[in-house]
Amino acid sequence: MVITGVARSSSPGGLNSVIAAVSAGLAHHDEQPDLQAIFEREVQRALAIRTVRLREIPARYRARLVTPTRTSDSVVLGVPTAHPNVQAVLEASSGPDRSLGAADHEMLAAAAQLGGLVLALARTRTCRRVTDDGAAPLIGSSAAMQRLRERVERVALTGFTALIEGESGTGKELVARQLHELSGRAAGPFVAVNCAAVVESLLEAELFGIEDRTATGVKGRPGKFESADAGTLFLDEVSDLSVSAQAKLLRAIQEVAVERVGGTGSRRVDTRIIVATNRPLAGLVAQGLFRADLYYRLGGVEVHVPPLRERREDIGELTTYFLNRHRQTRELVISVAALEALRAYDWPGNVRELERLIESAIALAESDRIELDDLPPRVRGEYGEVLGHSLADGHSMRAWGSRYAKLVFERCGRNKRQACRRLDLSYHTLQAYLRFADATAAGSEKQLPAWVKSARQDEMLEKARA
Ligand SMILES: Nc1ncnc2c1ncn2[C@@H]1O[C@H](COP(=O)(O)OP(=O)(O)OP(=O)(O)O)[C@@H](O)[C@H]1O
Ligand SMILES: [Mg+2]
Repeated sequence: MVITGVARSSSPGGLNSVIAAVSAGLAHHDEQPDLQAIFEREVQRALAIRTVRLREIPARYRARLVTPTRTSDSVVLGVPTAHPNVQAVLEASSGPDRSLGAADHEMLAAAAQLGGLVLALARTRTCRRVTDDGAAPLIGSSAAMQRLRERVERVALTGFTALIEGESGTGKELVARQLHELSGRAAGPFVAVNCAAVVESLLEAELFGIEDRTATGVKGRPGKFESADAGTLFLDEVSDLSVSAQAKLLRAIQEVAVERVGGTGSRRVDTRIIVATNRPLAGLVAQGLFRADLYYRLGGVEVHVPPLRERREDIGELTTYFLNRHRQTRELVISVAALEALRAYDWPGNVRELERLIESAIALAESDRIELDDLPPRVRGEYGEVLGHSLADGHSMRAWGSRYAKLVFERCGRNKRQACRRLDLSYHTLQAYLRFADATAAGSEKQLPAWVKSARQDEMLEKARA
């Protein structure tokens, strides 16, 4: 017997269970369940039908997009999307013992509208989650990272060529991935090429492809430009491209087409180009090392990724994130002193250096807590010199302060006035601290002379009056 338009499915509250299940999925901040799968399962249950599928259509298949259909056993409906370059559909089929009636069609039309919201939600969550190919999400809540995220979101939607600049290890590749994930090309491929890692003689074939039998035994293959069709091509270390590769890249960008090595005609490609460099391109142009015309093509829409030392607030969050990521291998925590030392260090290798340091601590730390002594000397460095020693010997505030004052004095090139400004101390107090530091360094733990104490008190009184 074939039942038409099951009463349960046409009830006004039919989609309530779907909305409730998707909302419950949103509340899981840690596990991040698959919202699309929840939606499909709940719609299928609410209508008691065989299959429901909600999906985005990759740009390259769009030409073959099926027109919306509604029959008694299946429907294909358009789903609204936030971006004009993305199309999505809801497909449903009823199964042999049931056919779809008007009430089912009405409810599936409403489900298709809701599906648009679910896809938009799923997409924003993807960029915070570990992506399928193992790339990490962008961690950090400092003001600098928030500004970066806002810029990435704005730039992603434009689809223009973008230039990412930042020191080595700051996360430029992660930013490029996010630009892709948040763009209308997210359903297409993300293809990354490290221009510095490819041998120059092979680079052109790698980027633009090579025709069959260009040389003896050579098999034809597409280049990265073609592989990135309908998606994003990420050119890392673009400043390392040879002059001839720069010329070819410029032509490819201008003509939106590539010619394979050994080929005669060009092929159109629909790819968004994102480039990254850790050497500012403007400077290289000025030195004649990078083509100005290519720079003007690539620049304009720029994203600067700040070095870690300019967003020290993120160091704690990143450390916890890396420790959690390796929890399966070994569960470790970090001591307050070790974390303070990480915050004080300058991180020339940026996030990559921090990531490697945590990995080495996981492999080598003697106890289950990373201590100051587990950190490499370059990292404990000045922190260890000023604080580690004082902590171990139980120094008084005055003894610690004098060591710190001495270090700042040295860093100011032994310029006392500058050191006073940095430390916000009077000249006399600084003198007293320096004398105390010299005396303790020489092994005599003498008390501060009386005049030092009174100088400090005078200064405090002055401040209180001001
Ligand atoms: N904000 C971040 N959150 C989490 N991981 C990060 C972050 N920034 C960087 N990383 C991690 O640090 C490492 C280096 O990042 P990435 O490769 O993106 O840097 P890069 O700027 O491209 O470096 P290079 O200039 O050397 O190519 C990666 O393993 C990446 O996962
Ligand atoms: Mg990189």
